[in-house]
Amino acid sequence: MAPSAVNRQDWVFTVVRDRALLDDVSSKAKAYMTAERPLQLPEQLYEKLADAKFHVFYRAPALIVVSGPAADPWGAEDCALAAENLMLAAHGLGLGSCWIGLSQPWLATAEGRRALALPDTHNPIAPIILGHASAPPAPVPRKTPDIRWIG
Ligand SMILES: Cc1cc2nc3c(=O)[nH]c(=O)nc-3n(C[C@H](O)[C@H](O)[C@H](O)COP(=O)(O)O)c2cc1C
Repeated sequence: MAPSAVNRQDWVFTVVRDRALLDDVSSKAKAYMTAERPLQLPEQLYEKLADAKFHVFYRAPALIVVSGPAADPWGAEDCALAAENLMLAAHGLGLGSCWIGLSQPWLATAEGRRALALPDTHNPIAPIILGHASAPPAPVPRKTPDIRWIG
């Protein structure tokens, strides 16, 4: 029920539950992130990515990648809205979820797309892991929003 530009709803949800595949994607995503450095990240994140014990998906049992049409100027926004709805619905079902941006750059490569059989016409926008949280996570503090009343 997420809104989408011109109500296109042209998103694709790829569900992955195969543990071996999730482990493989995690390893490949880590190797790609450290070798290519496609994003400007704080140095401690690169240290984490270089740690053999770190799993980008935290060994969650399921990953849902929301992909949007490359040709749609609002494809990414639509996918982000669908992903947020998905995360809220998961929370309502008592599940934990997390957007794993660290997996995005490798998923968008030709090898990554092939690994998850992503459609050529779409870009992976929102990789969301789902699972049962081991303990209720403490809320992460939020900054006061920058709200400017101009009239
Ligand atoms: C676009 C995006 C990418 C993110 N990528 C990661 C990630 O790769 N790994 C991770 O552990 N958390 C990731 N997160 C989760 C944020 O770190 C988290 O939402 C933030 O710290 C607030 O915590 P909370 O969602 O538990 O309230 C990402 C969140 C967003 C919106």
